[in-house]
Amino acid sequence: MDKLLIQGGQPLDGEIRVSGAKNSALPILAATLLADGKVTVGNLPHLNDITTMIELLGRMGVELLIDERMSVQVDANSIKELTAPYELVKTMRASILVLGPMVAHFGEAHVSLPGGCAIGTRPVNLHVQGLEQMGAEILVEGGYIHAYCKDRLKGAHIFLDTVTVTGTENLMMAAALADGVTILENAAREPEVVDLAECLIAMGADVRGHGTSTIEIHGVESLHGCHFDVLPDRVETGTYLCAAAATRGRVLLKDTREDILEAVLLKLEETGAEISTGKDWIELNMRGRRPRAVNLRTAPYPAFPTDMQAQFVALNAVAEGTGSVTETVFENRFMHVQELIRMGADIDLEGNTAIVRGLDYLTGAPVMATDLRASASLVIAGLVARGETLVDRIYHIDRGYECIEEKLQLLGATIRRIPG
Ligand code: EPZ
Repeated sequence: MDKLLIQGGQPLDGEIRVSGAKNSALPILAATLLADGKVTVGNLPHLNDITTMIELLGRMGVELLIDERMSVQVDANSIKELTAPYELVKTMRASILVLGPMVAHFGEAHVSLPGGCAIGTRPVNLHVQGLEQMGAEILVEGGYIHAYCKDRLKGAHIFLDTVTVTGTENLMMAAALADGVTILENAAREPEVVDLAECLIAMGADVRGHGTSTIEIHGVESLHGCHFDVLPDRVETGTYLCAAAATRGRVLLKDTREDILEAVLLKLEETGAEISTGKDWIELNMRGRRPRAVNLRTAPYPAFPTDMQAQFVALNAVAEGTGSVTETVFENRFMHVQELIRMGADIDLEGNTAIVRGLDYLTGAPVMATDLRASASLVIAGLVARGETLVDRIYHIDRGYECIEEKLQLLGATIRRIPG
């Protein structure tokens, strides 16, 4: 297994380009299954999760063309297999996103239950219940979700008990081809949900209210092809800004947007960061100052995102003062804390809150990544720690951060990949 070797102590300084959003690319690639024509998806990040989704579509017999800039053209009409097999779904639980489009367009789908992951049990009951409300017949057996629909799905008024991003996305995609109107109440408002809605509209769907907690989808008979570029990755953006703040440095991030991570930018300004923004760029400058500790509580968009929680725990670990970080979305998303403590961090876990007392420095150590964003938190800690940090199991990080060592080297970090 590859490792990342980081020599800490240098403030980040430089500029890099932000990649397309993984969590927008995944539902949009799944949405290509809805179309009767060719859909080209651009600005895709070069990430393992994207490769897995492309492999999944390929396994189903869908025709795929990938160009040198990693734009992918998908023609779902050649589909042969209506199955998402366990060996792929277990590596990427977002594979569940093919369920809605498959049953809506082809009347049948067999998708392996994704199972839990390190950060929580990650149930998909709301995905299943919503499809049943739309008239799908669903049998969960042998570790698979078997979904059938004789004619077209029917529009339904669905109230989601919990705000679920991929649940909202799955049901929005299914509703696009349903007969009648579907209302999704308590829908997720994430920018990636909005991006998917915009892509569906480009394919001829009639979606309204996306970005609010009530989405209205007027089903149509068929959807045509289109070309759609996914939006910039707000979590990658936030991660590099957080790394610059923790290392008392300066970064200019290009090809990104400031209107999709406002809660994160406000928190960074609370640490003392100077932030300036433009149409497609964000600059953060600490002027060499140590960040101040911040308190935060994760919640669905537009509140502070759970995907940025681990990175801010690392920032608080070297900040001035004490900060409390409360995780309300997932039940087990503090695995980075034990690894940070091994680097000398002073953190107490009290239920779903981490109390982080900032120290002048951390000490480099061999650490182990446990999930995607925890890995990012350990990299940030390694960048500020004295001495060397060796991060193991970085296949987690390769799922969500394109060329992370190259981008950090461009920002002046001493970091290299040790092939394992
Ligand atoms: C999406 O996961 C993201 N993944 C996650 O990003 C992100 O952390 C999460 O949303 C929250 O923002 C993708 O978009 C591919 P949820 P998702 O359904 O949709 C409960 C990353 O780091 N729930 O919004 O799986 C669930 O247990 C990843 O890039 C149900 O109870 O998350 C959780 O407590 C990690 N029943 C809460 O909802 C359901 O049927 C939010 O989960 C579905 C969800």
